[in-house]
Amino acid sequence: LDLAVLVSGRGSNLRAICAAIDAGRCDARIAGVLADRSQADALAFAAERGIPTRVCRPKDHASREAWDAALADEVASFAPGLVVLAGFMRIVGPAMLARFPYRIVNVHPALLPAFPGTDGPAQAVAAGVRLSGCTVHLVDAGVDTGPILAQAAVPVLPSDDASTLHTRIQAQEHRVFPAVIDAIARGWIVPGARPSFAPSCPF
Ligand code: GRF
Repeated sequence: LDLAVLVSGRGSNLRAICAAIDAGRCDARIAGVLADRSQADALAFAAERGIPTRVCRPKDHASREAWDAALADEVASFAPGLVVLAGFMRIVGPAMLARFPYRIVNVHPALLPAFPGTDGPAQAVAAGVRLSGCTVHLVDAGVDTGPILAQAAVPVLPSDDASTLHTRIQAQEHRVFPAVIDAIARGWIVPGARPSFAPSCPF
């Protein structure tokens, strides 16, 4: 399964996906990495690995719609079977959704539908919940509202702040996200169908 991985920041999920591919735990290939800003650490990591990279910045386009259309064209140039939002801090628009129907997955640092949007860990700490976690879901037109494919829970400890909780959640993201991509590659999860799981599915 060829992946286009979209990033904005550090790229720890990109690294985890690469590590899982290298270890034979994720039956995929990273065709390209695209960022919405030129300084993303994830871009440098991809370039070091010889993975093609692109930058598509909203400020280089006249409107949100123009950026969305350009983004769809750039992503399509990687000919991906799956578009992976790995810490991509933007809402993808109608052009992206139309070009890759049921073929965009996101990882979110909360147990959706609780705490969508930015700062999932901070929202969880502020709400005083005792459990949080990560969610991998298909992307639709809403903000973190698409069909849920997998989740993993972690405890929220009394001593946690948003940062310590996010670190604990990210350890689960790094496990679950590559596993979901592998499951899609192997046909255990069929995006667009109601998620169904074969007996050997690892979560
Ligand atoms: C992750 O926690 C993810 O849930 C959220 O953004 C963060 C990206 O982290 N969407 P990284 O860039 O993969 O380290």
